[in-house]
Amino acid sequence: MKLLVTGGAGYIGSVVAAQLVEAGHDVTVLDDLSTGHADAVPRGARFVNRPITEAGDALDGVEGVLHFAARSLVGESVEKPGLYWSNNLGGTLALLHAMHEYGVRRLVFSSTAATYGEPERSPILETDPTRPTNPYGASKLAVDTALTAYSGLHKLGAVSLRYFNVAGAYTAPGGDLYRERHTVETHLIPNVLRVATGERESVSVFGTDYPTPDGTCVRDYIHVADLARAHLLALDATTEGEHRVYNLGNGTGFSVREVVEVCREVTGHEIPTVVGPRRPGDPAVLVASSEKIQRELGWKPERTSMSEIVADAWNAIPR
Ligand code: UFG
Repeated sequence: MKLLVTGGAGYIGSVVAAQLVEAGHDVTVLDDLSTGHADAVPRGARFVNRPITEAGDALDGVEGVLHFAARSLVGESVEKPGLYWSNNLGGTLALLHAMHEYGVRRLVFSSTAATYGEPERSPILETDPTRPTNPYGASKLAVDTALTAYSGLHKLGAVSLRYFNVAGAYTAPGGDLYRERHTVETHLIPNVLRVATGERESVSVFGTDYPTPDGTCVRDYIHVADLARAHLLALDATTEGEHRVYNLGNGTGFSVREVVEVCREVTGHEIPTVVGPRRPGDPAVLVASSEKIQRELGWKPERTSMSEIVADAWNAIPR
């Protein structure tokens, strides 16, 4: 299938683009390199250096779009909400408009657990209330809402995948390596591994007074290769006029302290921690029920061990 992958020079987008190329699709990556890296665009994919608001003729003949390009830092979204509304919502509406003009009828959209906000129960189901606690989650939820309307109006087949905590790295069958390398790194596992490499002295633990067994936040970590595979299934499942929403996680929670402990075991390095205050907007526990995508699309996570997820991230760091 001829496909356009927006944000395909970023962490998750590049892994999905690589898997699409491997599956024999004709892939074009559209990315403005605002946070992505040109060398992350997989071999075998075309690259168009442009923002999503200017997709234009890059959509010519395209049958499906996988849309990753977005601002994705919760903290930044609180400080600069306008950036999130204009990029994530405004940019996506422009892309949807262009897709309609070019007759593109399939879309897989990168949504997030942040659309749920502070959950009432765990694990979270797709039918649970969506009450985002930051502009990042709100902007993604607004797109999900727009997609429901658009799919009905314009015969679009759309799937929103709500990611929980994505981690690990991906080695393609040819040996090419895809890893997380954000210039501004806010995520737990890469920050802990930076301590293990000696790049940082310690990692902050944001809050130890949460109502969880060890007082630190609990998250559901999913391997990027498993997450990426779900996009190929979602693409095949797109149905004209329908918008579907699926959670993507492993269904098991790990606390911040447990993650640090696994990183110590995997790397063999001491990892000093410093207890800091809670990070505003962090829910205590975020764990997915991915039962719906397992039942409807036959997706199953294969790399569910936390040690394997951390080991893949660790082994991908050049040193
Ligand atoms: N944490 C630390 N120290 C750090 C970094 C993180 O203690 O240096 C803690 C956070 O407070 C949180 C947990 O580790 O409790 C995980 O934090 P991440 O930043 O790795 O991930 P988040 O759960 O905040 O974010 C993820 C996605 C977001 C999404 C969010 C939904 O990366 O895109 O889930 O709430 F919005």
